[in-house]
Amino acid sequence: MSRIVVILNGPNLNLLGKREPEIYGHETLADVEAECRRMGAELKLAIEFHQSNREYEIIDWIHGCRGRAAGIVINPAAFTHTSVAILDALNAFDGPIVEVHISNVHRREEFRRHSFVSAVASGVIVGCGTEGYTLALRRIATLIGEGKRESGRG
Ligand code: DQA
Repeated sequence: MSRIVVILNGPNLNLLGKREPEIYGHETLADVEAECRRMGAELKLAIEFHQSNREYEIIDWIHGCRGRAAGIVINPAAFTHTSVAILDALNAFDGPIVEVHISNVHRREEFRRHSFVSAVASGVIVGCGTEGYTLALRRIATLIGEGKRESGRG
């Protein structure tokens, strides 16, 4: 069975560490990737890590997970609040999906409270800083172990 977990990052996350550090912290996306690879090794997961500012590219990566990856960790960034297309792509994937937000979106502007992606996510990790990514990997490993897509959905 596949142990591939694909970690996807949406727009502006390439600027992590430089962009609004009071909200997103000082760690860069390269630091996050290194942490994820460390955690992946511990959990015996094969990590693939991507970031794009382009919606279609994220959709194509999600399609590439079909029949191949065991799970997806996704921080869709601003596309969280706008993208039915990403929701539809995720709905065409069979494994567990964990949605991550570095900041606590519920303590911010009203428009950040709605996520299209949460409707398909097995779990959502919000406001745990960049540690949210490794927490998400632990959760994916548990769900893969159980051979389940979701906990408590449907
Ligand atoms: C974010 C929260 C989003 O509202 C925002 O557009 C981002 C990052 C987070 O990780 O906290 O770009 O997904």
